[in-house]
Amino acid sequence: MAQDKLILRALAGETLPTPPIWMMRQAGRYLPEYKATRAQAGDFLSLCYNPELAAEVTLQPIRRYGFDAAILFADILLLPQAMGADLWFVTGEGPRLSTITTADELAALKPLGDIDETLSPIYETIKILRQELPKETTLIGFAGAPWTVATYMIAGKGTPDQGPAHKLKDENRPVFDGLIHQITEGTIAYLSRQIEAGAEVVKLFDSWAESLKGDDFLNYSIKPQQRIIAALKAKYPDTPIIAFPRGAGERYIGLHAATGADCIALDDGVSAEWAAANVQTGGCVQGNLASRHMVTGGDALVSETRAICKAFSNGPHIFNLGHGITPDANPDNVQLMIDTVRGA
Ligand code: CP3
Repeated sequence: MAQDKLILRALAGETLPTPPIWMMRQAGRYLPEYKATRAQAGDFLSLCYNPELAAEVTLQPIRRYGFDAAILFADILLLPQAMGADLWFVTGEGPRLSTITTADELAALKPLGDIDETLSPIYETIKILRQELPKETTLIGFAGAPWTVATYMIAGKGTPDQGPAHKLKDENRPVFDGLIHQITEGTIAYLSRQIEAGAEVVKLFDSWAESLKGDDFLNYSIKPQQRIIAALKAKYPDTPIIAFPRGAGERYIGLHAATGADCIALDDGVSAEWAAANVQTGGCVQGNLASRHMVTGGDALVSETRAICKAFSNGPHIFNLGHGITPDANPDNVQLMIDTVRGA
């Protein structure tokens, strides 16, 4: 039953004696079993679009560690691909996309009614997972937030300062606004289908929110997410939503109300004590152990994990890292983190 799932209880606002736990990028290259399945699939995108194998890698960290949530194995760049961008991954470097910087390129994107031609395998993965996940494990679907997705669509790759996206925003506002609008509407359609297929929670990743300054943070990180969340809540009022405006810093204050999200995910740039006093007062928070502890382990991992649990112990909290686990992490440190959270 839904209320037996600890993640759903925390998202409903319950303060639990032990926080439920999952981990960003929990299916990934730090796990030998992931690398084996990825090799079987051929490459990363073939793995994303193979429902059986994508379900398999989603389940691997659940089998190994018993996390309280599984996150669908996919990528935030599949939606741009479904919208008509070319997408490929360069080994050792990361994603590459065809770029959108002109009105003609924006107009050449596919109609949003067509995205399921590309994305239907993702919904199939969700259906398999709902069959195969343990009863107590919550399934999280996700998408990128419009600003973060736009930064990749404009630059054609990841960029340290999101410079090309800022340049388009400042020099050709109609094309930039049009692209944000198109991604926003596409995300509503994509997450709606994920929920209909069986995702029990959805999360928006705004990984590059930090570089939006002044009114841009409100207009391009928060408002598009608010629009997505309002549209989803109108159709699926019982599906909780997590928002992750990474690097928001002091601007994390008030974001439950501003976005309409049930939970705000915190990166490790804010202290747990500060966030308990200033953000958790608005609702459930998720986070925020620095990912480097999964590489370094030891006493620092244990004491920092305990400190985060203690700081957030008077309100709803889901334990997680502040960002994704890195490929050089030691799988034993993940177990140590879980044991510390559950045993503390
Ligand atoms: O386990 C999970 O968290 C679920 C799956 C997931 C992936 N990507 C798989 C993946 C999720 C939720 C994402 C989100 C994602 N993808 C984000 C937002 C979260 C964040 O980390 O800030 C972003 C910015 C992307 C775009 C992306 N995908 C980049 C920049 C890269 C290259 C960097 C890298 O780590 O290689 C990817 C590739 C990617 N997405 C991998 C995985 C497991 C590694 C691919 C591989 O196996 O080679």
